[in-house]
Amino acid sequence: MNLKNKTVVLGVTGGIAAYKALELTSRLKKAEADVKIIMTKAAAEFVSPLSFQSLSQNPVALDMFEEPKAWEVRHISLAKAADVFAVVPATANFLGKAANGIADDMLTTTYMACKAPKLIAPAMNTNMFENPVTQENIKKLKSLGAEFVMPAEGRLACGDVGTGKLADIDLIFENIARVALSKDADLRGKKVVVSAGATREALDPVRYLTNHSSGKMGFAIAKAAYLRGADVTLVAGAHTCPEARGINTVNVSSALEMRGAVLSAAEDADIIIMAAAVADYRPKSVSDSKIKKSGGDISLELTRNPDILKELGEKYAGKKVIVGFAMETEELIKNAAEKCAAKGADFIVANNLSTAGAGFGTDTNVASIVRPDGSAEDLPKMSKDELADIILTEAAKL
Ligand code: CTP
Repeated sequence: MNLKNKTVVLGVTGGIAAYKALELTSRLKKAEADVKIIMTKAAAEFVSPLSFQSLSQNPVALDMFEEPKAWEVRHISLAKAADVFAVVPATANFLGKAANGIADDMLTTTYMACKAPKLIAPAMNTNMFENPVTQENIKKLKSLGAEFVMPAEGRLACGDVGTGKLADIDLIFENIARVALSKDADLRGKKVVVSAGATREALDPVRYLTNHSSGKMGFAIAKAAYLRGADVTLVAGAHTCPEARGINTVNVSSALEMRGAVLSAAEDADIIIMAAAVADYRPKSVSDSKIKKSGGDISLELTRNPDILKELGEKYAGKKVIVGFAMETEELIKNAAEKCAAKGADFIVANNLSTAGAGFGTDTNVASIVRPDGSAEDLPKMSKDELADIILTEAAKL
C-alpha cells in the first residue's frame, strides 16, 4: 500500500519496545509516508533520536522547552500536518496523561493540539496494563475517538508472561495505513468480492492437481479495497500469503467450492474481481481411497470445471462490475479482449507470462487493462500493491 502525500506523526514513549518503532518508521518510509517523530525524554534513553532521524529523514522533535524558539509553533505545526497521529509504543504514563488532558512535553502538547485520527499501541508490564487505572484510561481515550492496537500476550522484558507486549509491527503498520487513507476511502459502502490463489482438484485423499498461483495479486487487491473503505470478502484457494487481517476470508479448495463461495458472496456485491487461478479441469472421479501404484502407466480422465467468471458475466453483466484476469504467452491483447467479451467482464487484467517481473509468485506485475472492444492500456512494471490500486480505481469508475 502506498502512503505518498500522507504524514504520519509518530510519538515514541519510553518503554523497552521503543526500538520496535524504528522498524515501523522504516516500513512507513518504504510506503512513502512522510514520518515525523516525536520522542519523549524517556524514549530517548532507550533509543537514540539519531536512529529515528536517519530512518525518517526528518528532524526528531524532543522535549519542547529545549528549543525555546521553535517550540511555540512546532507542536501546533506537527499537529496540523498529521493525517494520522500514532503513539507506538505508548506507556501507561502516556495513556494517563493523554486521558486526563495533561500536556507537559512535546508529545502530549502535540497530542492535545492534534485533530487528526489517533492510533495508540500500548506496551507495558502486564500488571501495569491490567491495572484498572490503565484500563479506565484506555476506555476513556477510546470513547474520545482514539483507536487502539492492543498489546499481545507473551514473555515481557521484565520476565513476566502475560499481556503487554507491543502488537505485531505489521499489524500496527496496516492500521496506521488504514487510518491514514481513511479520508480518501472512495470505496466506503461498496461490497467487493475478490477471489485469489490456486484451486486444488483432488485425485484421491492425498493427491491433487493445482497450479503455481501464490495468491499475492488477489490478496493485494483485497487489502487495497479494505484500506479504501470497502466491505471485502476474499475467497481464497491455496496461497502463500500471510492472513488478510480484518478481511472476511472464505477458504476454499476446489473450483466447485470456489464457485459456491463466490456466487454466494456476489449476490449483494458491487464489484467482483476474479484473480484466482481456477483449474479449468478436475479429475472425472475422485477415489475415496489412495490410488495404489501398479506396474504400468495410468491415465487420468478430466472433466471441465464450471467457468465462474463466465457465470458471473451471464448473471450480472451491466449490473455489477466484473473484472477478470488472463495470462497469455502470445497475442496478449487480442486473446484477452476475446476472453473479456466471451465472459461478460467489464475488463481483464492481462499479463504476459513471458515478461520478466510478471505473473506467478513475484511481488511485481506487468499488466495491461483490456476491454471487450479490444482497447487496452499497457501499464509499466509495478508492485502488485500498486497494480491493485489501479484495478480498483478502474473498477470504481464503472
Ligand atoms: N476463471 C474462472 N473459472 C474458471 C477458469 C477461470 O472464473 N473455471 C477466471 C479466472 O479467475 C480469471 C479468468 O477466468 O479471471 C481467466 O480466464 P481463463 O479463460 O481461464 O484464462 P486462461 O486460463 O488464461 O485461459 P486459457 O486456458 O483458455 O488460455
